[in-house]
Amino acid sequence: MEKKVMLITGASGGLGSSIAEYFSTKDYNLVLHHNTNSPLLEADDQIMHYQADLTNESEVENLIEAILIRFGRLDIVVNNAGISESNISWKTTLDSWEKTISTNLTAPFLVCKHSIPTMRSQQFGRIINISSVVGQAGFIGTSAYTASKAGLIGLTKTLSKELSTSGITANNLALGYFNRGMIRDVPDDMRKAIEEDIPLKRLGEPKAICNTIEYLINDGSDYITGQTINVNGGLYT
Ligand SMILES: NC(=O)c1ccc[n+]([C@@H]2O[C@H](COP(=O)([O-])OP(=O)(O)OC[C@H]3O[C@@H](n4cnc5c(N)ncnc54)[C@H](OP(=O)(O)O)[C@@H]3O)[C@@H](O)[C@H]2O)c1
Repeated sequence: MEKKVMLITGASGGLGSSIAEYFSTKDYNLVLHHNTNSPLLEADDQIMHYQADLTNESEVENLIEAILIRFGRLDIVVNNAGISESNISWKTTLDSWEKTISTNLTAPFLVCKHSIPTMRSQQFGRIINISSVVGQAGFIGTSAYTASKAGLIGLTKTLSKELSTSGITANNLALGYFNRGMIRDVPDDMRKAIEEDIPLKRLGEPKAICNTIEYLINDGSDYITGQTINVNGGLYT
C-alpha cells in the first residue's frame, strides 16, 4: 500500500507545526506548506516543504502540481493556514477585511478546488478545515475573522454534499483557544479572562486537535462528513 499523502497548510505556524510534528511520527508522506516562515521539521524523504501565498490561485495550482509530481497522490488536506486581525467592526478597514477573508476563506476554497480532482480520481479524500469557536459564537473586535470562519463552516457543508459519492469527506474543526500560535497576540489579562470562561479552565493542547484529525482521516470515519467538531474545552456547545 502506498503511504497516504497529507498536506498541512500553515505548517510554519504554532498549531501547524504541532500537527506536522504529530503526523511525522505516523505513516504518512507530509507536505508542509509555509509562506513567510519555515517549518520546524526538516525536509526529508517523507517530508516535503513548499512555500506559497495561498491567496494566489496560481500558487495554489503550483503547490498541488508539485505534490503530485513528488508523491503521485494527495489524500488528506488540512486547511490550517489563517490570520487574525483585531478591530471593532466600524473601525475595520476594507483592506484588513479583504485580507482576512482572502486568507481564511478564499485560500481554503482554492486549496480544495485544486485538490478535489485528484481526490475524486482516487475515490478517496479527507478535507479538514480549521475553523474557530469565534465563527460560531462571535467575539468583540473580530468581525472579519468571525465572518471568514463562519464562511468556512458553510463551505465545508456544501463540499461534503458535492463529494458524498466520491469517497471524500469534508469536516470542520471549530477550535477554542489553544496554547500555541495566535494566542501570542492576546494580552495577558485577556488570556486570563479567556481561561476563566473555558469550562475546563485551561487553554487547549495541540494534541487534542491532532487526535481529532487522526480520527477523521481514518478509513472507518467515512460516514462522518459535513460536520463541525468542537475542540474547545466545553466553551461552546
Ligand atoms: N491558536 C488558536 O488558539 C486558534 C484558535 C482557533 C482557531 N485557530 C486557527 O488555527 C489555524 C492556525 O492558527 P495558529 O494559531 O497556528 O496561527 P499562526 O501561528 O499565526 O500560524 C498561521 C499560519 O498561516 C500561514 N499563513 C498566513 N497567511 C498566509 C497566506 N496568505 N498564505 C499562506 N499561508 C499563510 C502562516 O504562514 P507563515 O508564518 O509561513 O507566513 C502560518 O503558517 C488558523 O486557521 C487559526 O484561525 C487557532
